[in-house]
Amino acid sequence: MNIKTTLLTLSLSLSSSMALAAGQVEVLHWWTSGGEAKSVAVLKKMLEEQGYQWKDFAVAGGGGDNAMTVLKARAVSGNPPAAAQIKGPSIQEWGELGFLANIDDVAKANHWNDVLPAVVSNVMKYQGHYVAVPVNVHRVNWLWANKAIFDKLNLKVPTTMDEFFTVADKIKAAGYIPLAHGGQPWQDATVFEAIALDVLGSEDYRKAFVDLDMDVLGGDKMVKVFELFRKVHSYIDKNAPGRDWNIATSMVINGKAAMQIMGDWAKGEFTAAGKVPGKDYICAPTPGTSNQFTYNIDSFAFFKIKNKADQKAQDALAATILTPEFQQIFNLNKGSIPVRLDADMSKFDACAVRSMKDFKATAKSGDLVPSMAHGMSTTSYAQGAIYDVVTFFFNTPNADPKQTTEMLKKAVKAAL
Ligand code: GAL
Repeated sequence: MNIKTTLLTLSLSLSSSMALAAGQVEVLHWWTSGGEAKSVAVLKKMLEEQGYQWKDFAVAGGGGDNAMTVLKARAVSGNPPAAAQIKGPSIQEWGELGFLANIDDVAKANHWNDVLPAVVSNVMKYQGHYVAVPVNVHRVNWLWANKAIFDKLNLKVPTTMDEFFTVADKIKAAGYIPLAHGGQPWQDATVFEAIALDVLGSEDYRKAFVDLDMDVLGGDKMVKVFELFRKVHSYIDKNAPGRDWNIATSMVINGKAAMQIMGDWAKGEFTAAGKVPGKDYICAPTPGTSNQFTYNIDSFAFFKIKNKADQKAQDALAATILTPEFQQIFNLNKGSIPVRLDADMSKFDACAVRSMKDFKATAKSGDLVPSMAHGMSTTSYAQGAIYDVVTFFFNTPNADPKQTTEMLKKAVKAAL
């Protein structure tokens, strides 16, 4: 072996042992659409720049249902990843099972209690200790509209459900699909909860989906929610079943469909396609909910692992996620807003600026509510029961709204 090869071999083995010493994090997530993949790539890059290794564990499937199934299987076999995208009350469920690692040291060193709103930091703690880190705040009650179609037909984006139906009729008559939708339980639930927010109002929405109050779940207003939900179904196309949410978004982007009801990760798709709000598309709160905000906060929970170097990598990942730099680049791509209260919003578009303004205002007015469809409001068991009834109803043309409301009550009761 000559000197050059010896040096090369030495430096190669040194760099691989250094990399090993610096540790690795395996990260489970479901961010595989165009906008999502671009966003998560930022995190990978920032971690690798610090010398750590990122082992990607992406499980495709919007809303994360597939990812959660895979995560459970890995955890049960005693081999969970170092970090996983886990949100809302599910963090408590994983905490109770004893899987999660305490990251208080990172939180303390980076003053998380000061930079995060309490509505967020409380969810990240299990028994008072940080076990997860929040990434962003998504608003779910958004309507996305193709501006060219609305301009051509001389229509205004609907602000009430009545206006929605009037506008949708005109769009249909002009040969476009009024509402782009993907028939998957979490997407059905996303539309359902938007209608529920309007019809029930914030207080009863909370009673239904946070408190699981049987009177509201089985009440007359809920019957009305199902009636409107049924009517909305007639404005989606026949190919909706099974369609991914980002394909539905692309139908709005390409002018095949006029509107989509979806959280602002849809904006990540518009952004990735080079589209600009106000010019190519319009973002507006879903009909009847302009002063309300359904939130969906993405977060990563950390699993207990033994290897010291990997624990350091875990800490680095946690710290990186809440840096102002990451919060800015990631959320610009993702369509969400930063979770830090002190975030600089000067680079964000009009939809994000409105989202931040409404997030702060609704936190004061009591109209900031957790998304049921995105696992923010209740246990995964109750959420699953609601999903079942909602999806059954949406796909069963002759299902009766009143009977379904009763069914909803019973299904939730059984999941308690
Ligand atoms: C949500 C998640 C978002 C978005 C969406 C579609 O549950 O919170 O970040 O990615 O699913 O995959």
